[in-house]
Amino acid sequence: MAIDDKIKEARDAFEKDAATVPVEQLKSKYLGREGVVRDLFALLKTVPPAEKGAAGQALNTFKGDLEKRVEELAKTRVAATSKSAIDLTLPGRAPELGRRHPIYKTWDEIARVFTKLGFDIVYGPEIETEENNFEALNIPMDHPARDGFDTFYIEAPYLVRSHTSPVQIRTMKQRKPPIRVIAPGKVFRPDKPDAGHSPMFHQIEGLIVAPGITFAHLKGVIDLFAKSMWGERTNIRFRPSFFPFTEPSAEVDVSCFICGAKGCPVCKGSGWVEIMGSGMVHPKVLQNCGIDAEANTGFAFGMGVERITMLKYGIPDIRRFYENHFAFLRQF
Ligand code: PHE
Repeated sequence: MAIDDKIKEARDAFEKDAATVPVEQLKSKYLGREGVVRDLFALLKTVPPAEKGAAGQALNTFKGDLEKRVEELAKTRVAATSKSAIDLTLPGRAPELGRRHPIYKTWDEIARVFTKLGFDIVYGPEIETEENNFEALNIPMDHPARDGFDTFYIEAPYLVRSHTSPVQIRTMKQRKPPIRVIAPGKVFRPDKPDAGHSPMFHQIEGLIVAPGITFAHLKGVIDLFAKSMWGERTNIRFRPSFFPFTEPSAEVDVSCFICGAKGCPVCKGSGWVEIMGSGMVHPKVLQNCGIDAEANTGFAFGMGVERITMLKYGIPDIRRFYENHFAFLRQF
């Protein structure tokens, strides 16, 4: 049999084996030291000298082909085994999820306390009228209290609200007593950003209007709120203050929840931290909204969500909330 025929025979046998025989065995059977290719080379001795060159070349080509085939097979086998070797019992890799911003976490927490007490959540627009932001709240144009509410003015009569109190006005114009709402939202003041100021921040407004509402109700609600937020041992105190839309007015302090009222940098050694402004709704404000101020009384309060969040987590700088550093935001 000519050597060419033997090569063809060996090639066919190899392809047949390739389907079933593991690559390593295939390699040694055909290309190994006692393999088929070597046996074929041994036959060269018997080839007549004139044909030796051509036969040698044919054998070398065949050997090269087989080496390539073995390499190919090794690659496809590895791919196939690693696919079937997926371990379904391994825990999955969780995709990174976004999370709620710390301000909105606090907001949720505060809202939960008040909705449990039956308060509705209402919203007002960030672009307001001067009427709702000031006039109806008993802050006339020339009133010095306007200086306390530095405001971004747009074209008259519009401005960007400087507090959530205009939502009191909108609510009292839409609803009849009994009214019981909280109004969370963004507010804006042209303050230069520093550790304690941001030109945009969040407030939560509260409002109750009904016959027979007294300051004692305000104290009861705020006491319950403070205890729900910071624990049963939390105390509150009211300090006389002034807002044109409430009379009487009071700032509310809570006993410092960082140091347990012993005195620390957060409460500046006093044991108390201020958390909100509050008071009895001024009768003029009720009248401005068409509510009978003889038959009804009410209380209102407003708190800064950033401030409460900073106190809660011991965050020293309000700007941290708006820099979008993942390292900061991932902690909440
Ligand atoms: N609107 C006041 C402020 O921004 C807070 C406040 C609300 C005070 C309601 C009393 C009643 O400072």
